[in-house]
Amino acid sequence: ANDNQNLEKLTAAKAAIAFVKNNDVVGLGTGSTATLAIKELAKLIKDGLKITGVPSSEATKKLAISLGIPLLELGKVRSIDVSIDGADEFTKELNLIKGGGGALFREKIMASLSKKTIIVTDGSKLVEKLGAFKVPIEVNPNAEKYVMIKLKKLKGKPVKRIENGKIFITDNQNYIFDTDFGLIDDPEKLAYELNQIDGVLGHGIFVNLTDIIFMAKGDYITSYHK
Ligand code: A5P
Repeated sequence: ANDNQNLEKLTAAKAAIAFVKNNDVVGLGTGSTATLAIKELAKLIKDGLKITGVPSSEATKKLAISLGIPLLELGKVRSIDVSIDGADEFTKELNLIKGGGGALFREKIMASLSKKTIIVTDGSKLVEKLGAFKVPIEVNPNAEKYVMIKLKKLKGKPVKRIENGKIFITDNQNYIFDTDFGLIDDPEKLAYELNQIDGVLGHGIFVNLTDIIFMAKGDYITSYHK
């Protein structure tokens, strides 16, 4: 990301922070934009804001602890007041592709538990149709070949994620298959079909899980909502 993009991420992050109220349970997303939001939140906490954070990844948990943010575990909360997270792609219909950082499963649980989910991005994430960004799919290693076969039947081209020369392993000890489906005409249908495959823990297509998206582009900030 260049300096301009980083500034856009910060602008979007700050817009989302304005939605956090005293005593809220706040879902903490994963990735570079969510990180900026978490750092802003930490400043407000130093100034007296009382919140409890719920991290969506081990990386975010570590960050939040280092910033002194009180935390609850995702698996132990029934409801989250507001969550703030990034995205890899989004459309004006508020459909997303997430999981570039591999945290998609916990991010989806977090969004599902949230009364309000706010997505924050720089100006590069808005697309007409999802799918240029390959869909991250989290797969249990015991189902590696089985899921490959199933994804190919859905006309997907899965590639097991490698990072720094090593097989990428998620926080949940699974693989990520970055899967090319071409441009996706019906994200809801594809999301449903992926949910039917045994061995898939989760996937990065987020439909009906977002309330507001703040995208900053240059000096402008645009919000997308229902
Ligand atoms: C993490 O798994 C992803 O879903 C992130 O939310 C996504 O990759 C966005 O990251 P950036 O804010 O760094 O672009």
